[in-house]
Amino acid sequence: MTLRAIRLGLWALVAVSAVLAGALWWMHESGEPARFASTQPAAYGDAFGGPFELVDQHGNSVTEAALLGKPTALFFGFTHCPDVCPTTLFEMSRWSETVDPSGDSLNVVFISVDPERDTPDALASYMSAFSDRIVALTGEPDVVRDVLRRYKIYSRKVGDGEDYTMDHTASVFLLDAAGRFRGTVAHGESRDTALAKLGRLIEETGT
Ligand code: NI
Repeated sequence: MTLRAIRLGLWALVAVSAVLAGALWWMHESGEPARFASTQPAAYGDAFGGPFELVDQHGNSVTEAALLGKPTALFFGFTHCPDVCPTTLFEMSRWSETVDPSGDSLNVVFISVDPERDTPDALASYMSAFSDRIVALTGEPDVVRDVLRRYKIYSRKVGDGEDYTMDHTASVFLLDAAGRFRGTVAHGESRDTALAKLGRLIEETGT
């Protein structure tokens, strides 16, 4: 091998190393913003929520005042949901009993994304399986649709006829006593994490 060939080989090695180092640095740097971007407070922020008038499982008219005065755990779903909704409602009931034994410190609210099937009566019989602490809300489809839009809730009908299901946002939303968005408990997050978040919510933003 000539000296020239060795020198070329070394330069090639240096060039490849530089490209690799650059790629690693780029992956590292670009990974950070992506991770921060996926946290939700920025995505919801001040534009989250607003006034509404819906109907609860007892047929009473309920406004956004149900989300005020103390912190709130708010969940959107539907009674025909096979898995995520019943699991989450069961968990919310247990969280509430743990972080708020007296039932005075936390609103627990469910809003239907399927008002066509979730009448107040349907909500009443469904909620009896969970906790009487949960305020379950529905309304006219266009009213509910407007609420979902303002709370930035994704929901989509999947399938036709009577057997359709709904894709929907599965996070539990945490609001302070003024109804402002403070964070979420994601579906599948551990009970310990959920309890820590709710405890902090009550401690920092409760009245
Ligand atoms: Ni569901």
